[in-house]
Amino acid sequence: MTVRETLARELTAARDRTLRLVDFDDAELGRQYHPLMSPLVWDLAHIGQQEELWLLRGGNPDRPGMLSPDVERLYDAFVHPRARRADLPLLPPTDARAYCRTVRNQALDTLDALPDEDRGFNFGLVISHENQHDETMLQALNLRAGPPLLDRGTPLPAGRPGVAGTSVLVPGGEFVLGVDAVTEPHSLDNERPAHVVDIPAFRIGRVPVTNGEWQQFVDDGGYHQPRWWSQAGWAHRMQASLLAPQFWNPDGTRTRFGHVEAIAADEPVQHVTYFEAEAYAAWAGARLPTEMEWEKACVWDPAVGARRRYPWGSSAPTAQLANLGGDARRPAPVGAYPAGASAYGAEQLLGDVWEWTSSPLRPWPGFTPMIYERYSQPFFDGDYRVLRGGSWAVAPNILRPSFRNWDHPIRRQIFSGVRLAWDA
Ligand code: AVJ
Ligand code: FE
Repeated sequence: MTVRETLARELTAARDRTLRLVDFDDAELGRQYHPLMSPLVWDLAHIGQQEELWLLRGGNPDRPGMLSPDVERLYDAFVHPRARRADLPLLPPTDARAYCRTVRNQALDTLDALPDEDRGFNFGLVISHENQHDETMLQALNLRAGPPLLDRGTPLPAGRPGVAGTSVLVPGGEFVLGVDAVTEPHSLDNERPAHVVDIPAFRIGRVPVTNGEWQQFVDDGGYHQPRWWSQAGWAHRMQASLLAPQFWNPDGTRTRFGHVEAIAADEPVQHVTYFEAEAYAAWAGARLPTEMEWEKACVWDPAVGARRRYPWGSSAPTAQLANLGGDARRPAPVGAYPAGASAYGAEQLLGDVWEWTSSPLRPWPGFTPMIYERYSQPFFDGDYRVLRGGSWAVAPNILRPSFRNWDHPIRRQIFSGVRLAWDA
């Protein structure tokens, strides 16, 4: 397949996914399910607006677009906080869909004219952006009260007993952190450039922490003992009255996309804040990994002294290797993907849950902003922690071991979980 054909397919797949997530009536799309999330119709038009900006207007907002400047400004994430977007005079769903369709048709014409040697960075950026908003829309739908709009999700492979709570050793030494355009042409600015770092030996969880393990922390009074928590973490735990992961109900069930169900003990815990992750780790006699440790455990092949493209090797993700793409609607039980293990034996690094790391979001040395200059840069030196590995909701084609996500340490509507680490 040519680069153009691959990009056209990925654009279409992202759009199919988006349209399935907004296949509801107009009133539904205009609703704000939660102050942390936009109404779905905002995400829809914002997806089109970003695509128009990066693919049809060369990233220059002064170049006239299809929307009036006033309307276009409604979709600037830096201008309007999510909590207030439902009150804006947003494009009605019919207009938002038509706008996205018009932009897409012109973007596909632009793609047809892409020179053979061009690797289509801006197209990759737009594909990544749309898929990231699809995950955001899933977070919104998960917060929606009332009878479910989405099904329970597709089946997943069974887990393996005996893997929860085990760890693997990553010996100390140098490895290559980050990637370059040569090897990963669609890597985003914050993943670049590749550079050598030396990190001491450490141990890391073979799999993410499970609901069953988290229940022991709850039963042991972990949410009531400040000694496990950082100062900021305890202040937040008190202020937000945290007692268990989000969506766990007092009767021992959990609610997922409106479905009430049993909490599977062998499934990775989901919907915890950084602060809870940190407290859990302290209680367990562990700590969170740094993002450098996480990436080394994920991609370094010590036998070869080189990075792999994926934890398991060079082949693209499949349903046998990782839980990605969003249709499962939940993480897979631990041990479900032995074939997806990294060189060091860590499993489920890609997919299932975003894993909190102890690292604040910072640029790699030599960072250069991409055409979308405000994608990463405004968030450096802020109150953000890095999450790694992608969740079940991430599209496989936008995910790389070098992919960096970030959020405030108090957030947990995201599909966040925990993997432990220890000094070795
Ligand atoms: C990388 C997930 C933190 O949603 O804030 C979407 C992605 N940036 N539109 C976010 C993003 C602009 C970003 N995260
Ligand atoms: Fe966006």
